[in-house]
Amino acid sequence: MLLSPRLTPETYKCLIDAARQDPEAFWLRESRRLQWMNAPTSAMDTGSGWFADGTLNVSVNCLDRHLETRGDHTALIWQGEDTGSVLRLTYRELHARVCAMGNVLRDSGVKRGDRVAIHLPGVVEGVIAMLACARIGAMHVVLFGGFSAEAIADRLADSGAVLVITANVGRRGAKRIPFKTTMDTALGLRPEALAVRRVLVVEVTWDEVPLQEGRDALLTPLLAAASTECEPEVMKATDPLFLLYTSGSTGKPKGIVHGTGGYLTWASFTHELIFDHQQGDVFWCTADIGWITGHTYVAYGPLANGGTLLLFEGMPSHPAPGRWWDVIQSHKVTTFYTSPTAVRALMSEGDEIPGRYNLSSLRVLGSVGEPINHEAWTWFHDVIGGGRCALVDTWWQTETGGAMISLVPGAVAPRPASATLPLPGVNPVLLDEKGQPLDGAVEGILCIDGSWPGRALSIWKDDALFQTTYLKPYPGHYFTGDGARRDADGYYWITGRVDDVINVSGHRIGSAEIEDALSEIHDISESAAIGIPHDLKGQGLIVYVVPHHGLSDTQLAALKDAVIKTIAAKVGRYAVPERVYLVPDIPKTRSGKSVRRLLRKIACGETEGFGDLSTLANPAIVADLIAVIGRN
Ligand code: WT7
Repeated sequence: MLLSPRLTPETYKCLIDAARQDPEAFWLRESRRLQWMNAPTSAMDTGSGWFADGTLNVSVNCLDRHLETRGDHTALIWQGEDTGSVLRLTYRELHARVCAMGNVLRDSGVKRGDRVAIHLPGVVEGVIAMLACARIGAMHVVLFGGFSAEAIADRLADSGAVLVITANVGRRGAKRIPFKTTMDTALGLRPEALAVRRVLVVEVTWDEVPLQEGRDALLTPLLAAASTECEPEVMKATDPLFLLYTSGSTGKPKGIVHGTGGYLTWASFTHELIFDHQQGDVFWCTADIGWITGHTYVAYGPLANGGTLLLFEGMPSHPAPGRWWDVIQSHKVTTFYTSPTAVRALMSEGDEIPGRYNLSSLRVLGSVGEPINHEAWTWFHDVIGGGRCALVDTWWQTETGGAMISLVPGAVAPRPASATLPLPGVNPVLLDEKGQPLDGAVEGILCIDGSWPGRALSIWKDDALFQTTYLKPYPGHYFTGDGARRDADGYYWITGRVDDVINVSGHRIGSAEIEDALSEIHDISESAAIGIPHDLKGQGLIVYVVPHHGLSDTQLAALKDAVIKTIAAKVGRYAVPERVYLVPDIPKTRSGKSVRRLLRKIACGETEGFGDLSTLANPAIVADLIAVIGRN
């Protein structure tokens, strides 16, 4: 049975108006969607954070408080790679598992405020470990499965994690991904910089892995021996819940810190609103838990709202195209949230494949991570949604905690490829280069005025960097790093990053991150990483490399290979460039900055219309670059 949306344009307008007229009262009322140990008496952040005097525990909100009314409802459906392996956990069972994990962590010496790193494939222990950390007041640091050992070591060192939860291996079709071995390498890289005392290993398969005496242990026997009751820690609303690394335009990835009360209010509020969450929904967000989408909309939003979430271990088209549609059909998924890259890849397989499946359970479709183009939007809406589902394009960021600009089913009229309108309490502004707000239908730099409950608290150990990155570029506004266009009806169309962040398949990669990694190759004197449009991935990564003078042809020939290997090793395979160009120099301003705008145009095959080149320190290089691109 298809339910009609909970909201109408009129009821939604009331919400928007209420949030505008009296935000303090509005958010205080919304905070009551959570169960507080001490309910907050104030909402808005006036210097001491959102819901400053409230106390709560996130795992209690996601589990315990549902036990009485929904203890036997399914909280989580896990679909393994094999069609036959399905695990269903009721709220009661998930609660027991989280408590057992919480006790194992406490017994392993993890204390309130400690950091616990989680590096796992798509198994239930990921969500369980996150909630267990929340239960005992430890911060989780989930590391994306695709990170290299170097990338893991950097994040373990920066976060000061004391314990790691990993798997023996991950399954990918017949392939085995060596999680534990990668972790061992990471832990061995610079042990003096790490605080990791214990490594707990989930056995995803029967594959045996070496365990280091005194440090490593298999998780299953510990969980089996642990009590399923675990006293939740009483947390302040402003205590950190987790730390998640994301790439910015400068230097090393930043540890974004999210809080407890504000974040969970935002996760619950936005999940209910944008996905029109209703009793009986089966919610499937395809994101890896290593990204913010996997935090807010795989785990916290659906569970805070007492929903049923689906976790799928496998890939979209394995063992054959159509696997995702099979999962939707088998589990009667109502809400399906994925990325434009995935939609484009599935679209390229044709309409006939999804046509073989019954997708009539679907009610809401969602897109996130990058702008969705018109063609992909239309295909998703018409072919997968059968033209009857709402398609919510949700714009947000790791730093915003949850969706900010999005369609709301039933309440907002869709417009293909537009993220549509801001959610209640979200106040976007478009600025010109000088920081002046622009009115009406214009394109500009997207900033957000004021705060909202889900906004990140800070950058781990570097609040000054948080200020300079987000709050100082345009004083009085939160700077998103994105550009956007607003039409005459106030609808927003995100145009992409205006900083040096490249978005490949919804994965954020900093130019500086790539350039830093390459600076370690001896034969390279400098490099520049940029993104150019890519049909499937949204953006493709291009790297310009300047070799040292006097290298032999053999050395030059080996260089491209070294670039790829180095990026895979230092960052991860997901950041391996589309193309690597060896060039004599990089176009620079007189003050020595790489002119990325020019590098992008040249990489796109443009040969003229570059504007005034006389401001460059080395204008002659442009013709050389065009020649290099032409030859490749
Ligand atoms: C950047 C944030 C939000 C969770 C996943 C990515 C881009 C995100 C959209 C969208 C156009 C989008 C922006 C943003 N982005 N959603 N619906 N339309 N662009 O989180 O890794 O923090 O990346 O992703 O450029 O700044 P993230």
